[in-house]
Amino acid sequence: MAEKIKLSNVLASEALPAHLARGVIEERLRSAILDGRLPPGTAVRQQELATLYGVSRMPVREALRQLEAQALLRVEMHKGAVVAPLIGEDAVDTYGLRVLLETEALRQSIPLLDADDIARARGYIQQLENETRHAEIGRLNRLLHMALYSKAHNQKLLRLIENELNEEERFLRFHLSSMGLGKLTQDDHNALVDAASEKRVDDAVQVLEQHLNNGARVIRQYLDSQAAR
Ligand code: NI
Repeated sequence: MAEKIKLSNVLASEALPAHLARGVIEERLRSAILDGRLPPGTAVRQQELATLYGVSRMPVREALRQLEAQALLRVEMHKGAVVAPLIGEDAVDTYGLRVLLETEALRQSIPLLDADDIARARGYIQQLENETRHAEIGRLNRLLHMALYSKAHNQKLLRLIENELNEEERFLRFHLSSMGLGKLTQDDHNALVDAASEKRVDDAVQVLEQHLNNGARVIRQYLDSQAAR
């Protein structure tokens, strides 16, 4: 079913100047994948995009490569690029990796966080408090976490983390209601920002570990319940 979705039904045709093409195409596709307009399995063809945006295939190919690196697309034999599946069997491994990556980023970042960073993080928690749309909850959760890691000096580490959070954001977008997670663990979020603002690095790391382990547990339960159906 997913394969039947045509890019031209989802993405508006627009004439892009050559020097902006790669970045704009990447962004258009990225948001359509994250908000679910392009579901997993959708074929993403270079020529179709090149025609849609009135550009050569070169910037299209580069944009697709970026999205592949962000785990939003994957290349399948005989099919070319398709929208990547949501978190699946390896979800628990993903969370295990996230604990390693994110606690390291948090350790690097906390000593350098200033009042603006903390205020930004608290702003996202506040917005999460009133938010009921799943896509928006996933997005705010990602922004909150990234705000706390943002001062980490290792840029490659931050990119890896953002990729994992993109994956989680898509998963939450589709499964939040069925997982019975009415409200993400806001107590964790508050404790995390409190510890960060007071530069209590070890406390913050401990809260984050617990937060991610809880996430892993809930997703595991959800996947098990789906498998048992
Ligand atoms: Ni969170």
